[in-house]
Amino acid sequence: MILPIVAYGDPVLKKEAEEIEKDYPELKELIENMFETMYNAKGVGLAAPQIGKSIRLFIVDGSPFAELEEGEEPDPRAEGIENFKKVFINPIIEEETGNKWAFEEGCLSIPKIRENVYRKEKLVITYYDEEWNFHEETYEGYAARIIQHEYDHIEGVLFTDHLSPLKRKLLSKRLNNIAIGAIDTFYKMKFPESKKNKMI
Ligand code: NI
Repeated sequence: MILPIVAYGDPVLKKEAEEIEKDYPELKELIENMFETMYNAKGVGLAAPQIGKSIRLFIVDGSPFAELEEGEEPDPRAEGIENFKKVFINPIIEEETGNKWAFEEGCLSIPKIRENVYRKEKLVITYYDEEWNFHEETYEGYAARIIQHEYDHIEGVLFTDHLSPLKRKLLSKRLNNIAIGAIDTFYKMKFPESKKNKMI
């Protein structure tokens, strides 16, 4: 089932999410629905707060980063990304190392805005997968970038929070338009300040 994606401005996106227990109700179905929702919206990651659940869970599938245009050289930062499809439950980024690098990030909750965000190259993360197996893994390149962006979501942080105050000011009208639903998206969204929402 495709779920509506919560838009910028909803308080759930600013909240630190809660860990879940093994008996969390209908977890398998929730994960399936999140994958369906992410693929439908052509995203490479989706965190539970983005579908309105303040829990420490996110999913990723970085395979679109492996696609090359004709004549394009493989990007070393995309190494292994074709198999980077995972579920992260109760993750903890234990360590981030390396130089900060710029990447133009976007977010399904903030459609049509992309901005350079600087983050460290490499990270170590511990988490449980959908079978509740524990993992400790190291990532770099685009995989690390996707994790950092999604991990921010469960901490209540959006990529726009990493921008300079000036940049945010320049974007404020567009961000406000997203919050009130004055934007068209090809996927279903839930807008926090839309009058339509308040009537139902
Ligand atoms: Ni996002």
